Amino acid sequence: MLPTFPHAVPPEHAVDTAAWDATWLVGGAIERWSGPREAVRSPVCVDDGAGGITPVVLGHTPQLDGVAALEALDAARTAWSDGRGAWPTMRAGERIERLEQFVTELGKVREPVVRLLMWEIGKARKDAESEFDRTVVYVRDTIEAAKELDRASSRFALDGGFLGQIRRAPLGTVLCMGPFNYPLNETYTTLIPALIMGNTVVSKLPKLGALLHLPILEALRAAFPPGVVNVIQGDGATVIGPIMARGDVDCLAFIGSSRVANLLERQHPRPNRLRTISGLEAKNPAVILPSADLDLAVAECVSGALSFNGQRCTAIKLIFVHESIAEAFVARLVAAVDALRAGMPWEPGVTLTPLPEPGKPAHLAQLVDDAVARGAHVVNASGGGGRIHGTFYRPAVVYPVPPDARLFQEEQFGPVVPVTTFRELDDIDRFMRASPYGQQLALFGTDPTELGRLIDATCNAVCRINLNTQCRRGPDTFPFTGRKDSAEGTLSVSDALRAFSIRAVVAAARTDASEALVGEIVTRRLSSFLSTDFLF
Ligand code: G3H
Repeated sequence: MLPTFPHAVPPEHAVDTAAWDATWLVGGAIERWSGPREAVRSPVCVDDGAGGITPVVLGHTPQLDGVAALEALDAARTAWSDGRGAWPTMRAGERIERLEQFVTELGKVREPVVRLLMWEIGKARKDAESEFDRTVVYVRDTIEAAKELDRASSRFALDGGFLGQIRRAPLGTVLCMGPFNYPLNETYTTLIPALIMGNTVVSKLPKLGALLHLPILEALRAAFPPGVVNVIQGDGATVIGPIMARGDVDCLAFIGSSRVANLLERQHPRPNRLRTISGLEAKNPAVILPSADLDLAVAECVSGALSFNGQRCTAIKLIFVHESIAEAFVARLVAAVDALRAGMPWEPGVTLTPLPEPGKPAHLAQLVDDAVARGAHVVNASGGGGRIHGTFYRPAVVYPVPPDARLFQEEQFGPVVPVTTFRELDDIDRFMRASPYGQQLALFGTDPTELGRLIDATCNAVCRINLNTQCRRGPDTFPFTGRKDSAEGTLSVSDALRAFSIRAVVAAARTDASEALVGEIVTRRLSSFLSTDFLF
């Protein structure tokens, strides 16, 4: 039921952070910050044996001030040098070599990063390993996609009386801000494409899940020219406010809430110069049709709603079940949720783990209380649903959640599974239209006519419809985006290369003289841009 915390840090799972404590990367140097530091407290606590629990302190992150933050921005701007810096003008092949060097070094710090994913954000070991390995694969796939793009760009376009070579050029300086739930993966899925396209970067680490980035700083420092990547940490308003207010950020890559995305965008004095790529909130519904295979639907909904304790933007956050099968579905759902194993992140077979956000269990309890006050029930209360122990919250299955409940509308981002019923497909359509979000939905059913109608009714409200499978981001070659308050721009291995670049063309009238001139530039390899060289 509820897990017990250990009496001491188990030495075989411990991680020593002394070598990286309070470090940051600026202008090609790893500095140890001598100003204020913040103790990083784990959601994993130790039990004092007398009923008290205390979070384990893992190390410290630097709490930089505005001056230091602007030093990082200046380093990135110097490396950019109005597009004339060594990095943005480097041939694609050389940039790719640096990325290959980086990914080799990244592989060497797998174990400390995986351990810190467990300790800092409570991610189960298997999921932490999978986040690390998926990130390495993403970097390698990005390198291959960049080579492909380079090959395609090496050709000349001929149209009308013109010839042109069209390439994708970097945007300038990118501010990358990742989230706490995938602190490694979702930072590097913007950082790496931004770098490979020739941009320079300031990466602000998430408040939770920052320490795990520090073992990687040396690999970044060694692989890239000074100032190309700068890694900062600190209070968001203190460090990001001055950076945005400068107006020198050309692209904001942000994974978090739409409230903060709007705030950051508004801080830029010339918003027309800012491109934003964001992944924001979602309230992805699952729809269980009368024809659904209930065993499959339950298994996918449990995993979809509760993987990493529901702390995924792609999680299933509201289940619509047809009223004719609601009782049978809910009974199976409760049994499956109550069978999930809770424990410490390093314990084998554990799915449910402590929550890293301070105050999160209390927040979830408020959402559940609100639904209960409006007529819903915690239908797995006898199995411990909704019980709290320190940083741990046993998943609550809440049913039937009425449309006026906060759980019907708000993103819970945690282990609460709200279930509601529907009679007509129009009920789903109405929910999708009213929702401020538009990321994905999951449809469970086997009737092709009904599914076809529902796909057409919802395809312009979301950006991915999952048939008899949970919502998710992967595979990383598929487009990952959303409508309304759920995203700006599209990410995927290849889409991200486009997102962090702009098309630029060298064009000439198609005359004998210009063809000869262009031919000479190319054959004598007098330009990196105007070139028919390509990468294998
Ligand atoms: O939190 C949002 C993540 O991008 C979700 O990724 O569907 O692979 O868990 P995932």
